[in-house]
Amino acid sequence: MKTTCDIFAHRGSSIDHPENTMAAFQAAFEIGADGIEFDVQLTKDLVPVVIHDETLDRTTTGSGVVSDFAVEQLKTLSAGTWFDPRYENETIPTLEEVLVWASDKQIKLNIELKGKVNQRELLVQKVISMIQAYQLERSVILSSFDHVCIKKAKEVAPEIDTAVIVTAALYEPLAYLRSLDVEGYHYMSPLLLREEAGALIDAGVHIRPYTVNEQAILRRYMEWGCTGIFTDAPQLALNIRGEG
Ligand code: G3P
Ligand code: MG
Repeated sequence: MKTTCDIFAHRGSSIDHPENTMAAFQAAFEIGADGIEFDVQLTKDLVPVVIHDETLDRTTTGSGVVSDFAVEQLKTLSAGTWFDPRYENETIPTLEEVLVWASDKQIKLNIELKGKVNQRELLVQKVISMIQAYQLERSVILSSFDHVCIKKAKEVAPEIDTAVIVTAALYEPLAYLRSLDVEGYHYMSPLLLREEAGALIDAGVHIRPYTVNEQAILRRYMEWGCTGIFTDAPQLALNIRGEG
């Protein structure tokens, strides 16, 4: 298929690996995904770590709220056993580990910022300074459901691409996106109609729906000309994109 749509492995190649682990990221890279998406929040000692839920219970051997633990404590937990015992040695990655891993690779990083509203500035500042330290500004998209956080990120580092994530349709999205100075609109599929997406694409907005795992819908978004797609099944998406 003729498309430039970037395929982002959502939480890594999470259909066949434990989400948000180095194993899931490595798998996505090895099959040729254009990018990975992952979620970042702060530990008690203010280290950015990669985990989706506010709590440890679903995806680790621990229990309780992520931000109640220091990184050293979190590193003793398995982040892979819940998925399959053979991933027992996977731990919660720090953001720094992922940046080190990515720094010698051609791979895009969608870093989704999550966390407490009273720690927004801290999260933005810590994540951006780390991206800058590894000179990965051109490889990163910063996104969040917290649009205040994204506005701050844009102010701190205008050179880094940003996106808002939404679960419900925005009224006059173009004006809203321009007011925040963000480039991207990450919407929960199937929120947008084709003509709405088309108008935004024509206006230069980077449209990236999530989380798309069905063949027909992946194909549809590629045909629409979406800038990217978040999928748990990057191999399936790559196969569709590779169709003649
Ligand atoms: O960034 C797209 C998507 O990951 C947002 O939702 O809950 O999977 O982080 P969630
Ligand atoms: Mg996410």
